[in-house]
Amino acid sequence: MNSPCPSLLLAAWFFFAGAAAGAPKAAWGWASTPLFSDRFTPFVPTPHRVVEKMLELAEVGPDDTVYDLGSGDGRIVIAAAQKFGARAVGVEIDGKLCELSSEEIAKLGLQKSARIIHGDMFEVDLGPATVVTLYQLTRINKRLRPLLEKKLRRGARVVASDFEIPGWKPKKVVEVTSDVGAVYTLYLYVRP
Ligand SMILES: C[S@@+](CC[C@H](N)C(=O)[O-])C[C@H]1O[C@@H](n2cnc3c(N)ncnc32)[C@H](O)[C@@H]1O
Repeated sequence: MNSPCPSLLLAAWFFFAGAAAGAPKAAWGWASTPLFSDRFTPFVPTPHRVVEKMLELAEVGPDDTVYDLGSGDGRIVIAAAQKFGARAVGVEIDGKLCELSSEEIAKLGLQKSARIIHGDMFEVDLGPATVVTLYQLTRINKRLRPLLEKKLRRGARVVASDFEIPGWKPKKVVEVTSDVGAVYTLYLYVRP
């Protein structure tokens, strides 16, 4: 049997969250987050195997500074620092996820090369980034595009998982299958 497409899972999650918007906030703790705003994608972690492929696709190395916009539990940031020798920065709006990922970074002794900014990815300075990773819905990527065009240095690589950046032409598109058989499409862009 085919596994469900991850973008469908994310869309279903989003739909479900939207349906719950009418529920009392006390009953739906997570629903009181800014989940229903136009600027938000909920936390759905990228499988570790897919994380590695994203970083490989961008050819991340020790000279890179990787920014994961919406870093969740920090797995991309941690992998970029630990396995690829890069400096890595996560930007995460959810305080609990920030705390969790910062603790994990400290536990692994990666504080010199990895850190998490608690904040809004729409407000972040992308000047130092040579690589940006994204696992955000297409409409969020569309809203991020002007920021990427304005703040990202020429030649910087952007890897978007499963959701394209509308209006940008990918240099490469690859598919990767997670350990549980879900197929992810990765889009590699290079800032012209
Ligand atoms: C689909 S998850 C991806 C998590 C992680 N990058 C990964 O691939 O495993 C999207 C994340 O973006 C975060 N997020 C959503 N809107 C954000 C915003 N405006 N600024 C920072 N983080 C945001 C969510 O809290 C969530 O953790």
